[in-house]
Amino acid sequence: MTLVIDNIAELITNDPSLGDGPLGVVDDASVVVDGDTVVAVGPAGAVADERLDAAGRCVLPGFVDSHTHLVFAGDRAEEFSRRMAGEPYDGGGIRVTTDATRTAGRAGLEPALDGRLAEVHRAGSTTVEIKTGYGLSVDSEAELASLAAAATPEATFLGAHLVPSEYQGRADDYVELVCGPMLDAVRSHVRWIDVFCETGAFDADQSRAVLTAGRDAGLGLRLHANQLGHGPGVQLGVEMGCASVDHCTYLSDADIEALASSDTVATFLPATDFSTRQPYPDARRAIDAGVRVAIASNCNPGSSYTSSLSFCMALAVRDMGMTIDEAVAAVTTGGAAALRRDDVGRITPGGPAHMTILDAPSRHHLAYRPGVPLIWRTLGADYRLQPAGGQT
Ligand code: NIG
Repeated sequence: MTLVIDNIAELITNDPSLGDGPLGVVDDASVVVDGDTVVAVGPAGAVADERLDAAGRCVLPGFVDSHTHLVFAGDRAEEFSRRMAGEPYDGGGIRVTTDATRTAGRAGLEPALDGRLAEVHRAGSTTVEIKTGYGLSVDSEAELASLAAAATPEATFLGAHLVPSEYQGRADDYVELVCGPMLDAVRSHVRWIDVFCETGAFDADQSRAVLTAGRDAGLGLRLHANQLGHGPGVQLGVEMGCASVDHCTYLSDADIEALASSDTVATFLPATDFSTRQPYPDARRAIDAGVRVAIASNCNPGSSYTSSLSFCMALAVRDMGMTIDEAVAAVTTGGAAALRRDDVGRITPGGPAHMTILDAPSRHHLAYRPGVPLIWRTLGADYRLQPAGGQT
């Protein structure tokens, strides 16, 4: 059964051979889909078995959200309120969510994850990375890894998120646990390994040990770095060949140079800087130096409780010096590059039919109308959209 999405005012393909500029923009377009695959991109008026009238709307590739922590229980609204009253964010609340997550177990975590995946889809994202990191024991991290892996092909092991209370003062022992029994318990579930390299979490040596163990186990590498201050993380990430170094709120000239001469993507998480009252990263400086960038939501209960990449794009344009077109690229092809994927983030014949249709005529509205629910339809996804229990 074929479907034509017709009467598209503005189609963003991200394929310069199909349309104008780096975003491959086609005006007055249609897209023909056969099952889950795009079969044709062209002028309006194509014919297929079924027709979806976009009625002058804008169609983009489904967004690629390359950094989330969707498997958790509870929330930290009170911590957020205290922060808005002046308390600084230091990541210590991760232990609060760890307690709630261990207590909830699979029976509590699975429906919560399903609800968040539905929210991610409503927000226009069709690919989502999901980290563990609120279990912090062998059994709990294994449970979170299996839940994440059942939901998405982009599951990440983040046992080195924070030293849990029972290992307080014994961080190196905890790193040994992460690199040994914990990694053994999760490795069959996950594609990636990640570390929070920051003062108060894990230092450069500990982070290197975790990434090395992950690489030896066959996992791809990612890193949280330079969220709360300058540090060694970005350069460590480049040295280790991480696919992406995430946060990058603080970037020195040497960090930018290292990123620009590497394949490592700098993934900005502006909703985190918003929710923790951090300064925004200077994306303009990084892009002008030749750094490949992505934008992700970092959806988690502590530092960024939003799944809205539209909101993140508006922040990036308003406060990080990015153009609207750069922000659109950062949540599509940028996110795909951060996950080392070349199949998603584009609308091209032969590619997956993952699309976001805005209730607006052009991409500019994503930053121009912040806070407005502009996602009219999201088509397709490569993560689970039916509740795990099977009911709709
Ligand atoms: O990316 N920085 C570390 N991890 C998350 C925060 C998690 C939390 O505060 O619960 C982040 O911001």
